[in-house]
Amino acid sequence: MHAPEQWPPYYARAKGAEVWDLDGRKFVDMSYAGIGSCILGYADADIDDAVRAAIDAGSMCTLNAPEEVELADLLCELHPWADKVRYARCGGEAMAVAVRIARARTGREKVAFCGYHGWHDWYLAANLPQGDALDGHLLSGLAPAGVPASLSGTALPFHYNRLDELERIVAANRGELAAIVMEPVRNNEPVAGFLESVRALANDTGAVLVFDEVTAAFRATNGGIHLRYGVSPDIAVFAKAISNGYPMAAIIGRGDVMSAAEGSFISSTYWTERIGPTAALATIRKHRERDVVRHLEKMGRLVQEGWRSAAERAGLPVTVSGMPALSHFSINLANAQAVRTLFTQMMLDRGFLATNAFYAMYAHSTAQVEQYVAAVQEVFRELATAVECNGVDRLLRGPVAHAGFYRLT
Ligand SMILES: Cc1ncc(COP(=O)(O)O)c(C=O)c1O
Repeated sequence: MHAPEQWPPYYARAKGAEVWDLDGRKFVDMSYAGIGSCILGYADADIDDAVRAAIDAGSMCTLNAPEEVELADLLCELHPWADKVRYARCGGEAMAVAVRIARARTGREKVAFCGYHGWHDWYLAANLPQGDALDGHLLSGLAPAGVPASLSGTALPFHYNRLDELERIVAANRGELAAIVMEPVRNNEPVAGFLESVRALANDTGAVLVFDEVTAAFRATNGGIHLRYGVSPDIAVFAKAISNGYPMAAIIGRGDVMSAAEGSFISSTYWTERIGPTAALATIRKHRERDVVRHLEKMGRLVQEGWRSAAERAGLPVTVSGMPALSHFSINLANAQAVRTLFTQMMLDRGFLATNAFYAMYAHSTAQVEQYVAAVQEVFRELATAVECNGVDRLLRGPVAHAGFYRLT
């Protein structure tokens, strides 16, 4: 996805913000932090110690792990509007649980949504029958092969900050919407009144409001990012950063809404294992004790300022966006994809895993970020020269990265 034939696809070891590939080359990871999961850093000693203790105490049993209860109490303490909690192990799976609960609660089938929410049928149904409805929702070109055609028309997309689009969906589907599903915030801030109006629309039409906090939570608050905006959903879903690289997901919600789960079959054996809740408790507590948000924002700001000043000095047309902890930039050129690929190639040569996104980790040090910014200054200058003399393709040592998302395996 970043620099085909050059980006190391497999790793031997990862610690802090450093990664060693199978050839023993060491990189500082200034890219995706384990697809956003390792908010503290790779192989964090405190979380790994807690997990080792859970393994020693028996990580799976016929009985339940008490850490589940402790974690439920902690999540409800952090989100006082929530009364009940269920668990899964992955973000997309937890989102499917949330949608099932919303459908069970309302007896309705349709879901209005904005953004990316995983691979499950309820979501990919949006790309039936045209196949392009999900373009512009983080991941474009997601193929719905294998999703029953009968689900066509059940997942209705709207764009972030486009209340008019959601209003049209609500008006055209009165009495049919089970849920409104969205990230409270991702790349852009909500325009004034947007989240409040979505909340009011959900109330008005009787739909369950689901906030997907899988990626945004714990980046700007010690909990869901919705806490910052004072708008509470009926259900919020957490995964990724809550457990620093160990599979864990939580669906939290208002008691009356969550109770609908009891009327449906929603269960899986490994939702009862002990490592997930143990890692989540340790991660959330460390996150709070160390004021991790402050560090993430500091690193993110340094990176954003570094990109801006490097682009300005080099005369490279770059737009920087995103909250500091989940920063990214875009290159405003017709051959942006090739330039972005060359950026990654040049940064790999300098010992950095780097793309046009930076997911901050607690393990990133100011020194690492400063070294990264110095490398970006050099690389942006070289890119600008390459663009000027039409040399981008000639400098690339592999293919241009593809747009859209494909798995390696
Ligand atoms: C907002 C959002 N929701 C859901 C998911 C899916 O989570 P997972 O990949 O753990 O299934 C992601 C993953 O990138 C995400 O960013």
